[in-house]
Amino acid sequence: YYGSVVNPVSLKSFKALGACLIAVSSTGNIDWIVEDVHDSMVQETMGAHGYLDVEVVCLQDGEFLIPGFIDTHTHAPQVPNIGSGQSYELLEWLERITFPTESMFQDPDFARRTYTSVVRRIIDSGTTTCCYYGTIHLEATQVLFSNYLILHADYYLGQRAFIGKCNMDRNSPSYYIEPSVEVSMAATKALISHIKQLPSNPHAAEPLVQPILTPRFAITCTSPLLSSLGQLAASDPNLRIQTHISENLAEVTFTKSLFPECSSYAGAYDSFGLLRANTILAHAVHLSDDEITLIAKKKSGISHCPTSNFNLSSGVAPIGKYLDHGIKVGLGTDVSGGYSPSILNAIQNASIASKVIAMQTRGNPDASAEFSNKQLSVASLLYLATSGGAEVCDLENSVGSFSVGKSFDALQVNVRNNAGNPAMWGSDSGPRSLEGMLEQFLFCGDDRNISRVYVQGKLIGGTATR
Ligand code: GUN
Ligand code: FE
Repeated sequence: YYGSVVNPVSLKSFKALGACLIAVSSTGNIDWIVEDVHDSMVQETMGAHGYLDVEVVCLQDGEFLIPGFIDTHTHAPQVPNIGSGQSYELLEWLERITFPTESMFQDPDFARRTYTSVVRRIIDSGTTTCCYYGTIHLEATQVLFSNYLILHADYYLGQRAFIGKCNMDRNSPSYYIEPSVEVSMAATKALISHIKQLPSNPHAAEPLVQPILTPRFAITCTSPLLSSLGQLAASDPNLRIQTHISENLAEVTFTKSLFPECSSYAGAYDSFGLLRANTILAHAVHLSDDEITLIAKKKSGISHCPTSNFNLSSGVAPIGKYLDHGIKVGLGTDVSGGYSPSILNAIQNASIASKVIAMQTRGNPDASAEFSNKQLSVASLLYLATSGGAEVCDLENSVGSFSVGKSFDALQVNVRNNAGNPAMWGSDSGPRSLEGMLEQFLFCGDDRNISRVYVQGKLIGGTATR
């Protein structure tokens, strides 16, 4: 690939390379990168690396590559009710909107009819790695997984994903609850073996699709269930864990009443061995200082879901503060608490959320801190959507940025008029810097501006494939 490339470096910087040459081997991994190559030197540079008679994909003006987006938190079975129930806060929204929709996945045929278009839409939104919550149903969650087979013939050629079956054995409606710890654990183990038995891509560092433990949240899980899940996690250190934490104040109060012996909401998860370096904690809007210290110590990651936090009136998560504590942070769409499946929308709302906090604390800036109470920069937003998400998923050695040995998980972006996104019309006429095009894409772009989506070097979506 030859042309403009944007590569995240840190929370504070990214590289905007106007004439970059990236070599992707047939394994789908990046072989080498030369950051600045004059177009007259492309063939010579290829030859010097032993790349003879190899096709070069040349990007045009107004096109650039960025690493694929990582959605660290979404609910596949909530796509059918996306955009509804915005007037409720979390607990009422779960009861009135979410649980009724999720219960429909008891019917595997409904799952088959629904999940294919869900995954298709998320890929075309630019998400190359996705952390999915399914429902409590084993069969429907297996359908979500097998969907990768349907779409791509070989599942490992599709989207990179973590797929979990929700555990819920209390405080759930009678029509949508698991009857016992034993049933919940048996279904969880069955899903894990089902996903693990499929062949993996020998060139990928890890299987592209993996199971993930998914205790929905402390309210819907009894202590014996959380304890069994903690034991299962202990037997497999590589198994990721995902759950919700401290999203809504009524939820926090209810949780504390259910675990009076625990010091806090985070303390409850920790007491069952569920806080570890590959645990993904969604929301984290209302954490206490002690919980922040605990999560930092356990090296767990936070999935920031700002669209959902605004939409369900949950609050504004102090992401800058978490970053200053060295906590890993990625972005999540949290469909359908969030009303968009696109990480671009999460980026836009993460920016607004950080500005809300910066405005509220104007009289009280924290001069010694780097990120607390400040708005997130474009570099930070790009990082959270890519490299930060990779850290949260414990995949930082294989995805999240372009570097030698990592997988080529990438988006080819097109911000020219011919992409057909009216939000950007008019900007073709003048000269545009790569930094300017990136910012415009992050704030005004949508799936029309994503022409190609690659995972492990393989083209799996984007407008060019439709
Ligand atoms: N907490 C427990 N379940 C859910 C869910 O489905 N969505 C959100 N946003 N929060 C939750
Ligand atoms: Fe959620």
